[in-house]
Amino acid sequence: MIDIVAVLSKTELFSGLADESLRLITDYLEPVSFEPDFVVCREGDVGRVMYIIISGAVAVSSDMGWGQRELDRVGPGAVFGEMALISNDVRNATVRAIERTECLQLDSVGFDSLLDRDPALAQRIAKIMTRRFSGLVHKTSRELIEAYRALIFALANMTESRDPETGAHLERTRNYCVLLAEELAKNDAYKSAINHQFIDAIYQAAPLHDIGKVAISDSILFKPTGLVTDEYDRMKEHTRIGAAMMEKVIKRSGTDLFRMAARVCRSHHERWDGKGYPDGLAGDAIPLEARIMALADVYDALLSKRAYKKALSMQEAIDGIRSGAGTQFDPTIADAMLKNIGKFEEVYRRFRDEDDV
Ligand SMILES: [Fe+2]
Ligand SMILES: [Fe+2]
Repeated sequence: MIDIVAVLSKTELFSGLADESLRLITDYLEPVSFEPDFVVCREGDVGRVMYIIISGAVAVSSDMGWGQRELDRVGPGAVFGEMALISNDVRNATVRAIERTECLQLDSVGFDSLLDRDPALAQRIAKIMTRRFSGLVHKTSRELIEAYRALIFALANMTESRDPETGAHLERTRNYCVLLAEELAKNDAYKSAINHQFIDAIYQAAPLHDIGKVAISDSILFKPTGLVTDEYDRMKEHTRIGAAMMEKVIKRSGTDLFRMAARVCRSHHERWDGKGYPDGLAGDAIPLEARIMALADVYDALLSKRAYKKALSMQEAIDGIRSGAGTQFDPTIADAMLKNIGKFEEVYRRFRDEDDV
């Protein structure tokens, strides 16, 4: 004879409840047995019953899109099916008996009257479910965010194979952007526009600035000497192309990050004096993130070797930024860089190109 109260007291759902509560539960339980391979619960079906395994074992699996994948195998003392029962939702996994399995089942009617009769049980279940759900949400959202960020960077890195600029350039420029944004956030004129979300978004969006270059032909992209007018005009199109690529993403996922990426792609070659491209915007009409990106991009380009130019020294790069302040660059942002140039040099050294170490 199985001691059901003892079995229940070892399950996560019912452990810690008073014997009186556990005895009350036993009144609602019904024994049931399953032959090997019997599907006890099917993913997607409405779940109105939960089970406590007394003997035997079951396999828990889920449809991954490419087929069923076994997630777990559980045996005596384990509870399954309770999530759908409690949340009144469909099953989130399929459970199949691996061998002959004896269970106790509790249906939704019994479960509801138990909750009505025993506030301690109701409270305990509410706590367990909250803990499980928040753990699940936390884990899932962290994994999704990590995957999302890695994918964005991988996408940006696609330009690496088609561009003289390297992955290290992308790492450096995104870090320069963060340094500039943090510095500007201390300035009254910018602090309302720059918060944590802005800084995080520019860190993610900056590597996409030249994504439009994937559509520029090799003969232009890799030309070692100066481009003729037509070629230069075509090269300039990488700004509009990149923005159009981001707009397509925005249609499917209108997150702030991709809106910012679209602005960075389109306007990172605009100049403060209005002589840039593609729109000839001037001053504050240029989106802030693009003004920041312009500084980060040019500072790094000055320090880097290209097919058509040598790398400048740190002092020459600083002089280049200083002379461009107020013409090429937003003078406030240029000032923020020059005042903190040591931090930018540090980032440059931290993410050096492999061939100039
Ligand atoms: Fe560019
Ligand atoms: Fe760049």
